[in-house]
Amino acid sequence: MAIGLICAIPQELAHLRTLLVDAVAVRAAHTEFVSGTLDGFDVVLAGSGMGKVNSALVATVLADRFGCGAIVFSGVAGGLDPHLAVGDVVIADRVIQHDAGLIEDDRLQTYQPGHVPFINPTEVFGYRVDDALLALVVDRLAEFTLPTAAIRFGTVLSGDQYLHCEVTRQRLQREFGGLAVEMEGGAVAQVADAFGVPWLVIRALSDLAGRDSRFDFLAFVDEAAASSVAILRWLLPVLSPFVQRRSTG
Ligand code: ADE
Repeated sequence: MAIGLICAIPQELAHLRTLLVDAVAVRAAHTEFVSGTLDGFDVVLAGSGMGKVNSALVATVLADRFGCGAIVFSGVAGGLDPHLAVGDVVIADRVIQHDAGLIEDDRLQTYQPGHVPFINPTEVFGYRVDDALLALVVDRLAEFTLPTAAIRFGTVLSGDQYLHCEVTRQRLQREFGGLAVEMEGGAVAQVADAFGVPWLVIRALSDLAGRDSRFDFLAFVDEAAASSVAILRWLLPVLSPFVQRRSTG
């Protein structure tokens, strides 16, 4: 059983694609699923395109058609926490779809996807990384350093919008305490949870989601995507037992 790997954009995918050994590509829907090995671990790599529907579709194919035993998103994000800098890495312990919910009094009240408070209320908010997997990831990363960057664990926000606004950046950080914002992780987590597959979201900051974010993104996307891949490779040994566990039932 393989580890499913998802990237959204070509800049994120490029780093991983060249590292795959014995690669075999199959087309499905709008993209290519490449089976192969990465550092000796069986993986299936797919570029989803941007946004929650694209990444949900690809996560579904990885879980259902390829039977992946774990799914990892690797890529870039905008920073929300003012203590973070471009190049820092955020690993989600929880993801929230910040654009899902109820609109009341001209304002979005974020709520769990698939639920409306007065139709099918739920206490659940966001998606949490499997506790045992998270503990192993934290442990393993204690021995990993990036030359000038920090690695942080916390909440990542997902929505179908590229954030390029300081006011919204501050509001999202205030409301959810999020470390980073991106456009796919929440959907990958929702699909993986539905299949009972453990998941991880690894994001290196290409920008800080405010006014300069479009310029920073273009300047730093390649470097940030490479950092995310370095961390993903370091974490493969702790993901592998989860994959084996799923194949043995
Ligand atoms: N991915 C990278 N930067 C982002 C931003 N500012 N907003 C949403 N997704 C991003």
